[in-house]
Amino acid sequence: MSRYFVLVLFVLVSAAPLADAQRPTLLVDSDHRAAMSLDGDWHYIVDPYRGGWGNDEAIPSLGGYAADKRFVLGGPLLEYDFSKSPTLKVPGDWNTQEPKLYYYEGLLWYEREFQYRSKPGRKTFLHVGAANYMASVFINDKHICDHEGGFTPFDCDATAALKEGDNSIVIAVDDTRKPERVPTMKTDWWNYGGITRDISLIEVPDAFIDDYGMALQKNAAGTISGYVHVEGASAGTSVSVSIPELKAGTSAQTDADGKAVFSLQPNGLERWSPERPKLYKVELKAGADALQDDVGFRTVETRGDQILLNGKPIFLRGVDIHAEAPYRTGRATTEKDMQTLLGWAHDLDCNFVRLAHYPHDEKMTRLADRMGIMVWSEVPVYWGIHWENPATYEVAKQQLDEEIRRDRNKAAIILWSLANETPIGDARTDFIHRLAEEAHAQDPTRLTTAALLPNWSNHENGAQVMVLDDPLGKYLDVLGLNEYQGWYGGEPEALRNWIWKDPLDKPLIISEFGAGAKAGLHGEGKFTEDYQARVYKEQLAMFPKIPFLTGITPWVLMDFRSPTRLLPGIQDDFNRKGLVSDQGQKKEAFQVLKNYYESNPQPPAQP
Ligand code: GCU
Repeated sequence: MSRYFVLVLFVLVSAAPLADAQRPTLLVDSDHRAAMSLDGDWHYIVDPYRGGWGNDEAIPSLGGYAADKRFVLGGPLLEYDFSKSPTLKVPGDWNTQEPKLYYYEGLLWYEREFQYRSKPGRKTFLHVGAANYMASVFINDKHICDHEGGFTPFDCDATAALKEGDNSIVIAVDDTRKPERVPTMKTDWWNYGGITRDISLIEVPDAFIDDYGMALQKNAAGTISGYVHVEGASAGTSVSVSIPELKAGTSAQTDADGKAVFSLQPNGLERWSPERPKLYKVELKAGADALQDDVGFRTVETRGDQILLNGKPIFLRGVDIHAEAPYRTGRATTEKDMQTLLGWAHDLDCNFVRLAHYPHDEKMTRLADRMGIMVWSEVPVYWGIHWENPATYEVAKQQLDEEIRRDRNKAAIILWSLANETPIGDARTDFIHRLAEEAHAQDPTRLTTAALLPNWSNHENGAQVMVLDDPLGKYLDVLGLNEYQGWYGGEPEALRNWIWKDPLDKPLIISEFGAGAKAGLHGEGKFTEDYQARVYKEQLAMFPKIPFLTGITPWVLMDFRSPTRLLPGIQDDFNRKGLVSDQGQKKEAFQVLKNYYESNPQPPAQP
């Protein structure tokens, strides 16, 4: 084939109008919409040399895998064929499904075929619960969208790309770690790659509800106010919001941007709380579209160093959780995974969990809503992020906006955490300060926090004086602090003399403390259950002495896979600070913490 011919072909193809990948959106409450699931076995091609992008990543279909061609003996040259390639389960990480992919970080292509019949007057979105880290979606060789960030959902308008009958979908997923990404190069959790949450096709009318928010107002007793956004609606479109169980309802009109604001004053509203996690069926209607949701109503605020839930001070009996699947390990994906994890938290008598260090599956926050477990939700601004890189800030902000948009109506979530263990510095403080402002702008009904590092520099008569003076603190509603006295340094018993100071007079949550233990290992030293229990006993004995302590979340509920934990016979790729092993063995410290929680620790006294 002459070079001249290839050139013509190139020009022809490049001239062809390629569907520009549009920015994905995020359909709120999509798990309550009728959907055609695409979960199941997907073919995959591992592509470390990025050949699947064809000759030019800008024109992926030119010889790229997105074209999803089939090799025919005697036919045109082709050097891939998904239909003959192995499969992976979706949702799921690739690392724990295929031994060859255990350490793989890079580009991997997913493909499957499906049948589709369109309906007039309807749009169809491809919903992806999460794909770690970069995802590019092609349907019938049309590039419909790209998404960055491994822990938040995205919805891509597939209407124009879909065909009647046979369809092919190809998704390029790339979990290469890069300095400018969020998270960045180093994490103490395994970089599980893949399409790690549910994927489906969702149909909506041409004008549809893509976002809404409603919450009980702090300063207007009994008033629920909110908004509904109707994409594609003309101004003046009527929207109705009702809570049938309370015989409450109202209607409003959309403005020029498709937004309708409303407020309600229902009688007999029962507030959501851990003791009584009351959820109400809420119905939203706009034109041809209707949406239902299960929503709890409560207020959360601070008063001095107290956190008030429904106006009353609370103590947060918590635990940190990674989205690691119990028993089979790998990314947690199933309802059962979530039930097992929150079930263990419930056994501990927790009323609170910190979902570390990234937004967890929506199944988890829904379950917390139903179980009455309050939630700290976090974006993966973790350790040393590229603070001065505007693109890094934009992707951190994007992940925060997506996290808030997905879970805005979950009563269980009380805290948006903006960062974990970030080294003090002006660029860092400014970066996270801006995120804090963004969180409040997106959601004025919740509190902001971050897990800060201790300032070890102050002592009095040889005793540690823990002063909460991180410059970031003034921009947060609640202070989180991680301290590992007795593990990374010092004796657990030194905690008996610690002195705590809170110059900002803000509520404190000790967001991490703990020690490693190999389940079943007993004796004196580190990594024995005995030593872990000893650290817990000393930490728990100190807490009642901290006047502004409003909660704790020990590190961590269950052992989880980490690339930095390599001690053979003890760690074996697992961070062993769990109170439960990945195989469900409860360690001695589990009971120590349970006893403390059952002793009902009290919140700080009235300021
Ligand atoms: C850190 C960090 C966690 C980590 C833990 C540990 O402080 O926030 O992600 O796993 O401590 O060292 O075990």
